[in-house]
Amino acid sequence: MWGGRFAAGPSAIMREINASIPFDKALWRQDIAGSRAHVAMLAAQGIVTPDDAATIDEGLARIAEEYERDGVPEDWDLEDIHMTVESRLSELVGPVAGRLHTARSRNDQVATDFRLWVREASLRAEAGLEALQRALVTRAGEHADSIMPGFTHLQTAQPVTLGHHLMASYEMTKRDRSRFSDARARMDECPLGSAALAGTGFPIDREATARALGFAEPTRNSLDAVSDRDFAMDYLQAASQCAIHLSRLAEELILWASQPFGFVRLPDTLSTGSSIMPQKKNPDAAELVRGHAGRIIGCATSLMITMKGLPLAYSKDMQDDKPPVFEAAGLLDLCLAATAGMIADSEFRTDRMRQAAEMGFATATDLADWLVREADIPFREAHHITGAAVKLAESRNVALDALPLQDLQAIDARIDDRVFAALSVDASVAARASYGGTAPDEVRKRVAEARAALGME
Ligand code: ARG
Repeated sequence: MWGGRFAAGPSAIMREINASIPFDKALWRQDIAGSRAHVAMLAAQGIVTPDDAATIDEGLARIAEEYERDGVPEDWDLEDIHMTVESRLSELVGPVAGRLHTARSRNDQVATDFRLWVREASLRAEAGLEALQRALVTRAGEHADSIMPGFTHLQTAQPVTLGHHLMASYEMTKRDRSRFSDARARMDECPLGSAALAGTGFPIDREATARALGFAEPTRNSLDAVSDRDFAMDYLQAASQCAIHLSRLAEELILWASQPFGFVRLPDTLSTGSSIMPQKKNPDAAELVRGHAGRIIGCATSLMITMKGLPLAYSKDMQDDKPPVFEAAGLLDLCLAATAGMIADSEFRTDRMRQAAEMGFATATDLADWLVREADIPFREAHHITGAAVKLAESRNVALDALPLQDLQAIDARIDDRVFAALSVDASVAARASYGGTAPDEVRKRVAEARAALGME
């Protein structure tokens, strides 16, 4: 491609360190689409003849068929997907292939191809998130009344419903989706036509190529356009945040599936056994979602570190932008699918959850609230009285509402038998009907809103 200026070809080491074809062949569809849009524009502008453009376009269509059928050949001498396509084009159509690269550089070409790829990855992430949301709201609707302990410090805090807990994850996925769509709005500008760095002297029509490739408009500064990888970092940051949420949910499923918790039976289809211990069913999918989140965050970090010291415009370091994005996207798609599967097909052991909520003095706050409400005791004093009741129940190894009234009255005479209605876990969750609270009716409202938003009516 540049033999004119060189006396010697690259060494074996140079060829190996330089080659991006082993990974950037993933961009072949985008590369061919970009070239077809470019050559159509060159013809419309009278920069190449309609005949030459038609020959080039037919050649590109044929290459797409070949790659679809046989895969992309990997020749390190051709460095990357852009040269691989162009070299095949010249084999197919002869010297006219050389007209395709008029008014274009690999710098704007790769920036365009990569944006197109990242845009699709971002749409895939959103589709994966939507599938997860459907699973979450379906299961939340089934379990709007199912009582479980809510935790702080992983210590039993107050009873909540499983539906409320699942809807907490739904809220996270809503934010995750919006991060991907925000990122897409920003990447909706086409770099093609920025050429190497300074633009081109040919009378190109950048609006036309932008439109043909589905972008809202062309980028406004050629230096920025070929140097910008914000779109890839935006994607990786959105992916990292999403992976953090998936990892936290996975961590809970792992805990819940453990024997001491026993809150969930994960689907056999997303678990593994042990080669030595016959009783085992391990939550491997959940553990890998938790593990992969670390790798996804690592990919985001990797690209940020690649970019942070680069002067304008293109530097070859930027070839290292693709592996972390490809890796993270593959991992994220898998994590979303595995998580949706676990939520959809797990068996929630609501008996165990209720038992745990009843055993953990989870309604102690309700006793304190009752003393405030019914006996007009200041909350701090009510907190103290309730602490004494918990201490007594703990020493007898019984639940709060199993303490006899006389014993409660011995702690504070203002307690009467109406208190027992407030001490059940059902009364506790029903009482928390503030907007966004765990009361089953509130949860049902949130589920109905979510179903409507997802078109699930
Ligand atoms: N293989 C390169 C990459 O992926 C394409 C751009 C090359 N541009 C250049 N000036 N060497 O970044």
